[in-house]
Amino acid sequence: MCGIVGYIGKDEKRNIIIDGLRELEYRGYDSAGMAVMSQDEISYFKAVGKLDNLADKTKDFSSSGLGVAIGHTRWATHGKPTEINAHPHLGEHSFVVHNGIIENYKELKEELEGKGVKFLSQTDTEVIVHLFEENLKHIKDPFKAYEATIARLHGAYATLLITKTAPNKIFFAKVAAPLAIGKNDKNEIYFASSDAPLIGVAKEVSYLDDKAYGVVGIDSIEIYKDGKKITPHFSTLPKDRSYAQKEGYRFFMEKEIYEQNTVVSEAIMGRVKNGKICLENLTDEYLKNIDNIVLCACGTSYHAALTASYLFERLADVRVKVEFASEFRYRKPKLNTNSLFIVISQSGETADTLEALKIAKEAGLKTLAICNVDNSSIVRLADTTLLTRAGIEKGVASTKAFATQIVLLWMLVLQMASAKKSISQSELDTEISALLHIPQILNIDNSLQERIHRLAKHYLHGHGFFFIGRDIFYPLALEGALKLKEISYLHAEGYPAGEMKHGPIALADDRLFTIALMPQTTLYEKTKSNVEELAARDAYILAISPNEFELSDDFIKTSKQEHPMSEFFEMMIILQIFALEISIRLGNNVDMPRNLAKSVTVE
Ligand code: F6R
Repeated sequence: MCGIVGYIGKDEKRNIIIDGLRELEYRGYDSAGMAVMSQDEISYFKAVGKLDNLADKTKDFSSSGLGVAIGHTRWATHGKPTEINAHPHLGEHSFVVHNGIIENYKELKEELEGKGVKFLSQTDTEVIVHLFEENLKHIKDPFKAYEATIARLHGAYATLLITKTAPNKIFFAKVAAPLAIGKNDKNEIYFASSDAPLIGVAKEVSYLDDKAYGVVGIDSIEIYKDGKKITPHFSTLPKDRSYAQKEGYRFFMEKEIYEQNTVVSEAIMGRVKNGKICLENLTDEYLKNIDNIVLCACGTSYHAALTASYLFERLADVRVKVEFASEFRYRKPKLNTNSLFIVISQSGETADTLEALKIAKEAGLKTLAICNVDNSSIVRLADTTLLTRAGIEKGVASTKAFATQIVLLWMLVLQMASAKKSISQSELDTEISALLHIPQILNIDNSLQERIHRLAKHYLHGHGFFFIGRDIFYPLALEGALKLKEISYLHAEGYPAGEMKHGPIALADDRLFTIALMPQTTLYEKTKSNVEELAARDAYILAISPNEFELSDDFIKTSKQEHPMSEFFEMMIILQIFALEISIRLGNNVDMPRNLAKSVTVE
């Protein structure tokens, strides 16, 4: 999703903007641009495609001395990814960058065109800069003109504007899209869509609240909300940028797959005490009285929710509904105020999930966020949060965030089950010892990737993939299919194994790849007969199981495990590496797949 950076100070601005945008590349984008103003002169540059293209275009440009700069990576929503549509958008003397959607842009555009304003791009963003300049014609004070501009905008936005009419100032506003301000001892001010670009350059950060807007200058930060000046809260930023490096792996996704053992340990750390699960901010008393749960999320986080729904019902004896946030928000859901509404989000910024959370809160439900990004919009809105502690996830295809979400949800199930006494102490002991064993399961054997690498060459063609499984291995099948399609661009579907005969089996032939999840602990015989039905119709079968399966064309042997979750995590790793290896063989950009964004801040 779009990324924004901004800077006020005396240093060379081109590098600051390019470096900042690099830290936001993981959000996904298809063009980039920057505008730099120094000594009343504004220069701007735009380039389609990767940031290197913008870096190339600006390689002979530099600007030091007091001035301001804004930069942007754009993920196209209104209008194709062209140079004209790339940000910054310009008026006569001002430039704007924006993340989000201006919902009433058509109406504003018509109004402005009626006054003779000429638009260059097809974007919604361009209305901001023209509206500002129109306002400035009769409201002479640039800040008041900016205030009047944002008062007219409907929708979601984080936006920065610079103008020759107010040199060395950046005007900013934020509603339902992330924006943070960083500052340091050199009187420099930075803006960014997340704190990643601020680490190492700013000392302190303030995450702006929704509806905050204002203006910053070299030695002043003025922030307003609802027309009143507010005092921002700044917190200290970490100094270390090394976490963002690939540490010897070829891709962030690969590194993130391999670090799942560590991050899952982190997710568990301090949350198991004296043979009990003790999640911060959640008392047994609180959990005991919950008999109804709604789990709501998008994409991979939705698959984590679906997995957890089996665990909640089975272990905590609680009614569960799982919702796609994008469906939930427009469907007049019938809500029970006694429900606990749990949103799951890696980024904490997904627009649909955030809106669903707002609906649940307004309806008076208790809300809980399972999230990877502290201070994100979702975390700030939910009543309570459990952080997944996966560390920044840079690969667009989510891996370690999924693993930690599942672990957190499982722990929540166990604490609830123990509070409700829906499982015995010995069952709880078995669950906890399985939980503590997961980091070991996530240690990847050296030979596994090599084996999958060799297998992957069989799977580059064909007319599609079916990933099948039962019970919790069904959402895992969905996740395996999603991983593959995201980074290989091959058609893949996840399906409940028992549903194949109700239609999809018609597709079975020797060019249909079936990836069969056949755990020993969960409905093995049932799944086996579903796979046999496919094998009988000549489907090409990759079986993943601890048990040899004579009808499979390819086979990945997993270890014998006693607990379904151990088998789940072992198979999860295999599916992630399977997608990775196919994508590499196809020569795709693993970390930044086409058309995708890391943080989906538009609906
Ligand atoms: C898949 C993926 C997406 C996200 C989805 C929700 O690999 O990354 O499907 O899971 O966009 O994002 P979050 O979890 O940030 O709310």
